[in-house]
Amino acid sequence: MNIADFKKMKIEKRKISMVTAYDYFSAKLVSESGIDCILVGDSVAMVVHGFDSTLCATVDMMATHVAAVQRGAHTDAFIVGDMPFLSFRQGPHHAVAAAGRLMQAGAHSIKIEGVDGHEDVILHCVQSGIPVMGHLGLTPQFIHQLGGYKVQGKEKLAQEKLLEQAMTLERLGCFALVLECVPAVLAQEISKSLSIPVIGIGAGKDVDGQVLVYHDLLGFNPDFKPKFVRKFAEGYGWAQSALTQFRQEVLDQTFPSELESYKS
Ligand code: KIV
Repeated sequence: MNIADFKKMKIEKRKISMVTAYDYFSAKLVSESGIDCILVGDSVAMVVHGFDSTLCATVDMMATHVAAVQRGAHTDAFIVGDMPFLSFRQGPHHAVAAAGRLMQAGAHSIKIEGVDGHEDVILHCVQSGIPVMGHLGLTPQFIHQLGGYKVQGKEKLAQEKLLEQAMTLERLGCFALVLECVPAVLAQEISKSLSIPVIGIGAGKDVDGQVLVYHDLLGFNPDFKPKFVRKFAEGYGWAQSALTQFRQEVLDQTFPSELESYKS
């Protein structure tokens, strides 16, 4: 997968799949499953580091995880590195330096939340050879501005604004757009209005692709149950029963067996 394939898939009406990964083995699993694109999301701050929002992700943190993902992923996997909170709000010079760190760690593109007030940054990245994926709708880095994790674009005015922002991102040169938690009809309209693919999360099925967080998709996050997440496995229960069984077999002395022990 490369940047040209995103547009090609939209033209050919083939849906794009994207899943987050944060380390060597999750990247290996995701890439070996044939998923089109790996997102090293700033959700790493929450699902790996245990913070209660993405605001604690830093460029150092993101670069470390991008490098691990790059080592675990197939060579043809397309890797997107998330630009963390405020890393793109201190001017184009600072932003390109941060984006450069993610690219040198192994990302093939970066993702930037929002557009208002950092149009120059997006343009500067694109013109510097750094492909940019946009992200609109529920943008978790703006959580305190938005007043919570809730569906965006419910009112007519907000819908018009989202469509306008999406068109601005396309005009600035973004190669794809993540649209998070918006009504399905709005997402469909945005997808139809753009020539770049719209990858949805909580945005219904009439977009050009879908993205989910690794831990949500595999059911490793038992307390997180938003409407848009489908658990494709019961990862938490499965891991818990394996760990419980290990403990029991240590107690019973049925582990290790003779076969699992070295002879002198
Ligand atoms: O950080 C992340 O995982 C994301 C996805 C939810 C799209 O931005």
